[in-house]
Amino acid sequence: MIIANWKANGETQKNLHWCETFINSTDNTSLNYVGISPSSIHFKQLQNFFIETSVMIGIQDVDFEGGSRTGSISTEMASAECCKFSLVGHSERRELFNEDNNLIRKKIHSLLEHNIKPILCIGESLEEYESGETRNKLKCQIAESISKLNIVDELIIAYEPIWAIGSGITPKPKEVNSMHVFIKDVVQSATENNIVPKVLYGGSVNDTNAADFFEEESIDGALVGGASMDANVFANIVNIYKRLKRI
Ligand code: PGA
Repeated sequence: MIIANWKANGETQKNLHWCETFINSTDNTSLNYVGISPSSIHFKQLQNFFIETSVMIGIQDVDFEGGSRTGSISTEMASAECCKFSLVGHSERRELFNEDNNLIRKKIHSLLEHNIKPILCIGESLEEYESGETRNKLKCQIAESISKLNIVDELIIAYEPIWAIGSGITPKPKEVNSMHVFIKDVVQSATENNIVPKVLYGGSVNDTNAADFFEEESIDGALVGGASMDANVFANIVNIYKRLKRI
């Protein structure tokens, strides 16, 4: 799975150009494992453009309730618009909007109830990384946000070291791979029905380093921010994934 995270970027005309460039640079089978999360204001534009393809269009965040919650988009509303997935707990939401594991858990629960795939983002800060606290941090994020939830569908985790996001600096692919093995293990023991999740890596992925990550067995794809804004670069990443994972 390769997911584009456009964050608070995008504009109607530019988006259209992006979509046309992207679709002309990928083949039909590659589209089976592509997801795009534009801003909510552009969700429909992207959904309409890709309506006859298997590209999944999702959102970057969701509210677990509806009604008198100004500025929110509820899972119920997202589900009525056939939203396929939602990112949950991105580090920017955790840091800038004070989201904690408790809130993230409510969002995941609500998404599951509405048959929208949650993509749970987890990751450690530079300080935690340098003091060898990464595994504890990830374990705690997983335990507090998904333990004992009955997840029947596929669960996707995005492992994103905070210090690698938008920085151009990444951990070594082998290091990421061993973290993914750890995450799969922790999720398997934490979930009621022993789910083994797909784990994507996120943090400064581009078309130059993507192959190094996708060569690793337990790296099941990528969550791509900055590099996904360029349709050619994003298409290159998708094509590299297809070649290396032989899908
Ligand atoms: P980046 O962002 O690819 O620009 O590092 C990834 C993300 O924030 O999901």
